Amino acid sequence: MSQFWSKIVHTLTPYVPGEQPKLTNLIKLNTNENPYGPSPKALAAMQAQIADTLKLYPDAASTPLLQTIAQHYGVPVDHVFVGNGSDEVLALLFPALLKHDAPLLFPDITYSFYPVYCGLYEINYQTVPLNARFEIDVADYDRPCGGIIFPNPNAPTGVGLPLATIEEFLKRHADCVVVVDEAYIDFGGATAVTLVANYPNLLVVQTLSKSRSLAGLRVGLAIGQPHLIEALVRVKDSFNSYPLDRVAQAGAVAAFEDVAWFDETRNKVITTREWFTNELAQLGFETLPSQANFVFTRHPQRDAAELAALLRERSIIVRHFKRPERIAQFLRITIGTPEECAALVTALKEILA
Ligand SMILES: Cc1ncc(COP(=O)(O)O)c(C=O)c1O
Repeated sequence: MSQFWSKIVHTLTPYVPGEQPKLTNLIKLNTNENPYGPSPKALAAMQAQIADTLKLYPDAASTPLLQTIAQHYGVPVDHVFVGNGSDEVLALLFPALLKHDAPLLFPDITYSFYPVYCGLYEINYQTVPLNARFEIDVADYDRPCGGIIFPNPNAPTGVGLPLATIEEFLKRHADCVVVVDEAYIDFGGATAVTLVANYPNLLVVQTLSKSRSLAGLRVGLAIGQPHLIEALVRVKDSFNSYPLDRVAQAGAVAAFEDVAWFDETRNKVITTREWFTNELAQLGFETLPSQANFVFTRHPQRDAAELAALLRERSIIVRHFKRPERIAQFLRITIGTPEECAALVTALKEILA
């Protein structure tokens, strides 16, 4: 606390990111990173940018990247926006599109940054409980609102919604923006980008941090009709003209172009997830059906915090959320390499023996 703080700073409860320990030799399955690393072509494109041209500002609009993404998804270039990680895209879209008199709605169990943005921008919000199967139920959102946001698949549950349900949201809430945060969509879900042409109220947000393994580069994007994109550009240009540096723009273009690397690595993650879920079941764990690069799992007889601590003693880090109470007995485990997941299974066998 300080007398020098603005009034709003006293009220903030900032987001707490998953731990990034300095220790080596850890099996780090706590922040949903991709174990396979970025496309070698993306790395080469970034290395080529480490040059004298860094004395010049980058392209403020990231035009080649917008064109690459537009081509990838078959949408016009004026439907695409990019930012410094999807967290920044979210940070711009909350004030641009979700701040209205009626409350913003999002699930009670979801990405914990959403209430943090609401605090920062003083956005009135209501949380809507997931149903008993930890699913988002469109009928529960039938109430007055100024906007809706949810991840698909949801985090930290990994549970996905079919496109028909997304479309139902868009139809029932035609008078407000529905943001679908697709951070994990490439691990088994169907993207709502295909609905953008028909729904002026849909904004899809994605990231290169997960399926393209560039969490360290910080590139996120949004796709929607031009009136929504214009709102984002207006807020962005009132905040930071150059959110993506030259290295990030070049790396992101090359990562989108290297479809073979993308497909190979995400398929490996999906295959490992299915194997790992099956192993967990044999150890008595109950795992929610996941379409993401992580699983959300509980053991009916063992305390989740204790399990996380025992794994940590064996140099394996997973994520445990103490709150809300309803998920306090779950662990969120990122899908690593087959070797990392096998080591985790071995450790769990020891612990449960
Ligand atoms: C649901 C969801 N949305 C957005 C993000 C932010 O991703 P990034 O800022 O790395 O693009 C995350 C990160 O874990 C996430 O889980």
